[in-house]
Amino acid sequence: MNVFWYMCAPDGAYPWQPEGSRQVDYGYYKQLAQAYDHLGYTGALFATGAHDVWVLASALLSYTERLRFLVAIHPGLVAPTLLAKMAATFQEFARGRLLINVVSGDAKMLGAYGMMLPHDERYAMADEYLQLWHRLFAGESVTYQGRYFSTDGAKLALPVGESIAPPPLWFGGSSDKALDVAAKHVDTYLSWGETPEQIKGKVEAVKARAARYGRELEYGIRLYVIVRDTDEKAWEAAADLYGRMDDAAIAANQRFVARSDSVGQQRMTALHGGLKPANLRDLEVAPNLWAGIGLVRPGPGTAIVGSPDTVLRTLEAYQEAGVETFILSGMPLLEEAYRFGEKVLPRLDVTREVSTARNYTWSTLFDRDLSTVKSA
Ligand SMILES: Cc1cc2nc3c(=O)[nH]c(=O)nc-3n(C[C@H](O)[C@H](O)[C@H](O)COP(=O)(O)O)c2cc1C
Repeated sequence: MNVFWYMCAPDGAYPWQPEGSRQVDYGYYKQLAQAYDHLGYTGALFATGAHDVWVLASALLSYTERLRFLVAIHPGLVAPTLLAKMAATFQEFARGRLLINVVSGDAKMLGAYGMMLPHDERYAMADEYLQLWHRLFAGESVTYQGRYFSTDGAKLALPVGESIAPPPLWFGGSSDKALDVAAKHVDTYLSWGETPEQIKGKVEAVKARAARYGRELEYGIRLYVIVRDTDEKAWEAAADLYGRMDDAAIAANQRFVARSDSVGQQRMTALHGGLKPANLRDLEVAPNLWAGIGLVRPGPGTAIVGSPDTVLRTLEAYQEAGVETFILSGMPLLEEAYRFGEKVLPRLDVTREVSTARNYTWSTLFDRDLSTVKSA
C-alpha cells in the first residue's frame, strides 16, 4: 500500500477563513517535508497551487531521504521536451524518487496560462503530449509534427532508461475522455474521495478501458482524514470544522466550483449539493466518510472520520474496491500528518524505504545498563 500526504497551500486549522489559515512559506514547507519523511509516508503530492511545484519540490529534495515526490503537471503548459528534461534532471538528483501526476485542470485556471483548449480537446492534446513523453524517456531522438506539438531532433541528453528510470505517470480525471488517456498512458489512476462503491465502479470502468490497450493500471484515492482516539472524538473534531463553515465561505466556494468544467468536481459536488444540513452526520455519504469539507473546498471534499480502528476499516473498504494508493491530508497538514502518522500509519503495510530508527520510551532508559546511560 502507498500512503502519501499532501503538500500544497493553503493550510491551517480552518483554511477557508483568513483567521484560520496559516502562513505557508519555505520554512514551513521544509518542516512538512521533514515530518513526512520522518514519519514514513511513501511520498508527498505536490499539487498545483500558489507555489510552483518544480521549484518547491527541488527546494525540498535535499531535506528528505526517503520521501517520493508526486509532482502535478498540466500537459501542454511546458513544451514536452522541456518537461521531460526537467523530470529527468529531478529523477537523477532524487535517485528515482519522482512520480508525475498528470492533471488536465480546468478551462478557467488554464486560460490564465494561455491554454484556451476546451475540455475534451485538452485530453486530445494530453494524448499527443504523453506520446512524446514516452518516446523521450525511451531514449529516442524525436522529430515530430503533430496537431499540437512539433519537435525537431528532440533527445534527452541524460541517460534515461539506464541509470534514470522513467518516472511513473499518475493521473487524475473522471470524464470519459480522461479515462481514455489514463487507459492508454498512465500507471496509476487517481480519483478524488468518492465512496468505496463509486470507486469500485470507476476501477471497473478504467480496467475495461485499459484492457483495450492491453494494459493494467493501479488505483488511488485522495481523501482527508480526521482521526482521533475514539469515533466520538473524531466526530467532535469534524463538528468543530463544520461549525466554522459560514454561509459566505460556502457560497463563495459553490460559486467557484459551479464554473468548473471538471467532471471530477461535479461528482464531488453531487455528494453534498452545496447545502449545509443542521446535522453534520447527514453528510456521511458512506460509513465513516464525511462530505462536509467539499462545502468550503474545491476538489477533494471528503474525509474519513473515526478512531484508528475505524479509519483502518474504511481504508480496507477502499482496498476491497481495488485501491492501493491513498493520498491523504488533514487540517492543519503538519499536526494531522503526525496524528495519522503515529496512530494509523504504523499499522499499515506501507511501501517506503526502510528506516533504522526506533521508538524510545522512558523504559528504554530504565532497561539499559546504567553505566552506558551515564557515559552517554
Ligand atoms: C488526486 C487528484 C489530484 C488532482 N490534482 C490536481 C492539481 O494539482 N491541479 C489541477 O489543476 N487539477 C488537479 N486535479 C483535477 C484534475 O485535473 C481534474 O480531474 C480535471 O480538472 C478535470 O478532469 P475531468 O473533467 O476529466 O474530471 C486532480 C485530480 C485528482 C483526482
